Amino acid sequence: MKVLITGIAGFAGSYLAEEVLKKGDEVFGICLACESLENVAKIKKQIRILHEDITDLDQISRRVKKINPDQIYHLAALSSVGESFSKPVEMIENNFRGTLNLLEIIRKLKWPTRILIAGSCDMYGIVKPEETPIKEERSLLPVSPYGVSKAAGDLLAYQYFKSYGVNVIRARAFNHTGPGQRTGFVIPDLASQIARIEKSHLSPVLKVGNLSSQRDLSDVRDVVRAYTALMAKGKAGEAYNICMQKAYSIEHMLNILCSLSKKRISIQIDEKRNRPAEIPILSGNNSKLKKATGWKPKIPIEKTLEDTLDYWRKKLMTNDE
Ligand code: GDD
Repeated sequence: MKVLITGIAGFAGSYLAEEVLKKGDEVFGICLACESLENVAKIKKQIRILHEDITDLDQISRRVKKINPDQIYHLAALSSVGESFSKPVEMIENNFRGTLNLLEIIRKLKWPTRILIAGSCDMYGIVKPEETPIKEERSLLPVSPYGVSKAAGDLLAYQYFKSYGVNVIRARAFNHTGPGQRTGFVIPDLASQIARIEKSHLSPVLKVGNLSSQRDLSDVRDVVRAYTALMAKGKAGEAYNICMQKAYSIEHMLNILCSLSKKRISIQIDEKRNRPAEIPILSGNNSKLKKATGWKPKIPIEKTLEDTLDYWRKKLMTNDE
């Protein structure tokens, strides 16, 4: 089977490529020429990387037609909610256009290609605690440019299924992290500072943003297993939440990370890390995914946080050499 992954050099994209390779499929990946290939270094001989911009319809269309993939996982996107407030045009243009282009290409193809669109729980927007865990039927009312771009992609996918019968899965991943995620997201932002403090590269003061928000955090390795399970067993046109169905405050995650370090660390609130609009709680109901695929999360949050902190410790050591 030929499998194409957009955003293969990104955080989740690289884990997904490893997961798909385990199944014995042929993996093609699209990323920008300027992107670092560090995340895919260990599998680079087993995959074919193509440098393309998914917002360029002509270019991407030629590529996809040439590959003739059986399956496409569309992960390429600008993905930082925080950064989206300062780059709304870039965020919405890139994420919306990329999804639209791929759906258009598939619609015109003469062979049946299945596509999974990686969405985000950020599209649900602000919900009351008593309305969680969120089900897929919940209205999409995003409060960030990133959330708007993902909601638009999800709706496009629905429209292409209803109007043209495109074989599309709408995956809605909740927060996920693990080794390899860049800073700009809360866990790497916290873990990278702890690793620097341990090496005395920083004074023992950890800068944080809003600690009261609660997130349903999964390990990226569980999330990519959910993507492949949905690709195999999900129902075309349907939306599926990917999450643990548990919400923890960022403060709780910070406490776990600090408990993994022997350094005494104090906490300082950095107002610059706050956002114009914040979602206080995001937690999803995962029963639809479990029922459709039999998927279950395997990695507890403590292990994910420990592995992520170790990743940053090793990264600093390598950079020192
Ligand atoms: N990034 C960041 N850095 N967030 C912080 C920090 C910090 O130093 N301190 C506190 N936070 C808070 C944010 O304000 C937010 O409430 C929460 O931690 C999580 O922030 P992110 O890790 O940036 O995640 P997100 O929920 O906004 O978005 C992520 O999850 C989505 C799925 O819900 C991203 O990974 C999206 O790409 C993804 O779709």
